[in-house]
Amino acid sequence: MSIMNRHGVLERHSLLLTVAILVAVSIGGIIQMVPLMYMDNTIEKVDGMRPYTPLELAGKDIYIREGCYVCHSQMVRPLRDEVERYGHYSLAAESMYDHPFQWGSKRSGPDLARVGGKYSDEWHLDHLKDPRALVPESIMPPYEFLAKKELDFDDIQGRLKTERLVGVPYTDEMIENAEGHLIAQADPEERGYDYVDSLFDAYEGIAGREGTVKARDYDGDPTRITEMDALIAYLQMTGTLVDFSTFEADDLSNAR
Ligand code: HEC
Repeated sequence: MSIMNRHGVLERHSLLLTVAILVAVSIGGIIQMVPLMYMDNTIEKVDGMRPYTPLELAGKDIYIREGCYVCHSQMVRPLRDEVERYGHYSLAAESMYDHPFQWGSKRSGPDLARVGGKYSDEWHLDHLKDPRALVPESIMPPYEFLAKKELDFDDIQGRLKTERLVGVPYTDEMIENAEGHLIAQADPEERGYDYVDSLFDAYEGIAGREGTVKARDYDGDPTRITEMDALIAYLQMTGTLVDFSTFEADDLSNAR
C-alpha cells in the first residue's frame, strides 16, 4: 500500500485527523518557540531607551484611560509607505517599558509611535481641546476637560513601584523622588532648576543619551498641573528616545 492510500485512513476518521493535526502543529510550534527561549535576548538593546518619567507615566495612564488606543496605533510597520509617512519602523525595544504595550490594532487616526516633536505643545493643546478647529474633517472626540482637571498624582510612588515589579528599572532614588520629579517636569520653576537637573541625571543617566527629558509647562497654564500637562508630556516623548540618525540594526544573521 502506498503512502497516498494510507492518507485515506486519516481523511475518513475525523478524530484521528484532529490528533494528527495537533501533532503536526505542535512540532511547528516547538520549532518556532524553543529557539526564542535559548536566545540571549529577543529584544535588541538600543541606546536611549529609559523608563518613563513620572509625568510621562501619568500621561500614558490617561492615554489608556481615555481609550486613545482604540483609534490610534503605536507601531510603525516595516513597510515602505509606513516608513515614509511616520519614520523609522518601530523596534521591539521601544515598547520594552510599556505595560501594557500600546501597539493597538486599529487606525481610525494616524499612528502615534513617533508623534513626539512633530507638533508644538500649543498645537496638541488646541487639537485635544477641539480637533475640528485644526483638522475640519476630523472625527476625533474633544478632550477639553483634561485641561480643566488637576492631575491626581498621590499614588505616583506606588505606580513606579508597580512598574518596577514587572521589570522596569526604576531606582530607589527615582521612586523616592517621584512626586518631586513630576512637579519639576511640569513646572520647572516651582522646584528650582537644580532639582530639574537631578531629574535629567536620573533618567537620562539610565538611557545613555542626553536630552530626552523635557521639562516645561506643557498646557500653557502655569498655575497648576493638569491631566493635559501629563498627556502632552507623554505624546511629546513618544518616538524620541532612540536617536535614529545614529541607530543601526544589529546583524541578525549571527543570532542563534
Ligand atoms: C474616534 C477615534 C479617535 C479617538 C478615540 C482619538 N483619536 Fe486622535 N485622531 C483621530 C483621527 C481621525 C485623527 C486625524 C485627524 C485629526 O488630526 O484630528 C486623529 C489625530 C490625532 C493626532 C494628530 C496625529 C498626527 O500625526 O497628525 C493626535 C496627536 C491624536 N489624535 C491624539 C489622540 C489622543 C491623545 C487621544 C486620546 C485622548 C485620541 N487621539 C483619541 C481619531 C481619534
